[in-house]
Amino acid sequence: MGQSNHLTKVVLNNHNFESILFERINNKINNISLKKDLIDDPINYSLSNPGKRVRPLLAYLTADAIDLDLMKVDGLAAAIEVMHTYSLVHDDLPCMDNDSLRRGKPTIHIQYNESTAVLTGDALQSLAIMLISEDKNLTSDEKILLVQSLCRTVGHNGMILGQYLDLQFENTSPMRDEIINMYQLKTSLLIEFSIISPLLISNKLNEDWRDLARLIGTSFQLIDDLIDVTQPTEIIGKTASKDIDSKKKTLPILEGVEASKELINDYKIKAFKKLDNLRLGDHPLKHYIENLFNRVH
Ligand code: IPE
Ligand code: IPE
Ligand code: MG
Ligand code: MG
Ligand code: MG
Repeated sequence: MGQSNHLTKVVLNNHNFESILFERINNKINNISLKKDLIDDPINYSLSNPGKRVRPLLAYLTADAIDLDLMKVDGLAAAIEVMHTYSLVHDDLPCMDNDSLRRGKPTIHIQYNESTAVLTGDALQSLAIMLISEDKNLTSDEKILLVQSLCRTVGHNGMILGQYLDLQFENTSPMRDEIINMYQLKTSLLIEFSIISPLLISNKLNEDWRDLARLIGTSFQLIDDLIDVTQPTEIIGKTASKDIDSKKKTLPILEGVEASKELINDYKIKAFKKLDNLRLGDHPLKHYIENLFNRVH
């Protein structure tokens, strides 16, 4: 199942999927044609230095697993990555996490200045919506569905609320459940959307997919927090051990590395049960999800 994507003649397998999809999303992002205005330089700076591209890869792999033409996902995958990039540019601002390093390079407010970073984030956010609403491979109904769902994902009851709670928690003592809720809002929802959006287009969304998406999304932030306390700056491309200095309330800081690893393993076992229910065989999506659970940077 899902070994080929017939309309675009793309054949993904466990050996080639990362290079094919990484190139596909990078081409799409690089082709976002921007006029040579002042603000374009920082936009290009933020987009052209690729991170792991986790969200677009999840969208493409899910589409392939359900036999949805990858062309239906090109604009969507780019939109999700652009939206994610906006969230990082603002997350790094001095009034937020105050970070000077992102993907191994100076953050936008360091490279340019603070107001430029605010405006770059703003511009990326509307660019993400344009990538869906102006996509010629989507029908009007699909565009409305995706734009509505993406806006809910990142909006005031979603990612923004999560970011708000994350910052509030610097001065409070949240319980474990509150921290996990904050993880789900600030990080998991957009990762969930990456998996759920191709299913929405195909009308194939069910509880197993929803649960799988949440397990992946929640553990992604938990692993990010674990990496913050266990890996050096050179490996992660952002300042190491930053969370404790910022008084962040993360599970690895509050409950320790071992307890966090156990929880991640719990999530992984549950995710693999969901994958079994979904009968994806040996699809590369399964392989990629395993890599995400095992990642160390
Ligand atoms: C970092 O996201 C922010 C979190 C939500 C944890 P990624 O780890 O996906 O960052 P990049 O895109 O690879 O740089
Ligand atoms: C970022 O979480 C979440 C969002 C950007 C929405 P973090 O603050 O932990 O991400 P890093 O560690 O700066 O990448
Ligand atoms: Mg943050
Ligand atoms: Mg941060
Ligand atoms: Mg972090």
